[in-house]
Amino acid sequence: MNRILVTGANGQIGSELVDVLRRRHGRDRVVGLDLAPPSSPNGQREEGPYVTGDVRNRDAIEAVIRNHEVSVVYHLASLLSASGEKKPDQTWEVNLDGLKNVLDLARRHSLRVFWPSSIAVFGPSTPREQTPQRTVFDPSTMYGVTKRSGELLCQYYHRRYDIDVRSLRYPGLISYKTPPGGGTTDYAVDMFYAAADGDPYTCFVRPDTRLPMMYMPDALQATLDLMEADAGNLTVRDSYNITAFSFSARELAASIERRMPTFSCSYDPDERQRIADDWPQSVDDSVARSDWGWSPQYDLDAMTDDMLDHLQESLEV
Ligand code: NAD
Ligand code: SER
Repeated sequence: MNRILVTGANGQIGSELVDVLRRRHGRDRVVGLDLAPPSSPNGQREEGPYVTGDVRNRDAIEAVIRNHEVSVVYHLASLLSASGEKKPDQTWEVNLDGLKNVLDLARRHSLRVFWPSSIAVFGPSTPREQTPQRTVFDPSTMYGVTKRSGELLCQYYHRRYDIDVRSLRYPGLISYKTPPGGGTTDYAVDMFYAAADGDPYTCFVRPDTRLPMMYMPDALQATLDLMEADAGNLTVRDSYNITAFSFSARELAASIERRMPTFSCSYDPDERQRIADDWPQSVDDSVARSDWGWSPQYDLDAMTDDMLDHLQESLEV
């Protein structure tokens, strides 16, 4: 049986991607992998195959691939930007050694691979408005260094070994099912959780901080669409720029206030401000649009309404 392996399955993206893939391909066809079992007692373990494992251990990952007859890997396991500045050595090992393990196993077992990159590949010398697909890359975080190096590694394995590895540079992702895990764009999600709880929010970036963002349903759709695209149409094998919209922290607070007039946001920037200041404010994703038809569904207010509906609903349960 050809199974799909999702590493980082407990994370903000992995927890949702596993569900979507299981609905599409069948419960038993999708194997989740993470460092620890899912936290919910009724979580993915009961809903389908799940293994604990560390992507730094190539032999252990190879055993999973063999035992579960895996043919496609969505390799999401990673440390994110803010955590990465606290643990740069571990970030290199997990993000880059882990990726090389998966790519080497892709050679050995003829796997197809999806691996996400990030707007963190760009840096202070990159044009910050409508950042082009190909431009200056000078990441200022260890996370960004691993993401740009990983992009080049993917491109190299594709050119040299003909590995079908595909990648997206996700912007900041906003979702309500699983909280984010140590990124710079987490403030956008945290703001929604505070608002839904009826609490004020202290934002860790300045009100004028503007970054490219996307709602999770669009990110999942983009991931599936890229993996289903005709290989002959793909002109990018390092990683595709994609975006949905850009907003400042102040504009996000205003969008929430539109729905919840009592919500209030104050600002107390911390060390994550420096990271946000080095990232693009908006991204040009025209190559993804023309190569494989990328087009997001949600704008800022549509996302705000959907986020608040779901978060308030979960509080009522
Ligand atoms: P997350 O932090 O929520 O989840 C990452 C998961 O990886 C965690 O469950 C963690 O336990 C697991 N993990 C960490 N080290 C591991 C190891 N050694 N072995 C196995 N598992 C390990 O992250 P996410 O937001 O779901 O991100 C998934 C991917 O998408 C990452 O590659 C990230 O860089 C990328 N990405 C995310 C965003 C975003 O806004 N969420 C934006 C751009 C790119
Ligand atoms: N959302 C991620 C982060 O903030 C970007 O890759 O780290």
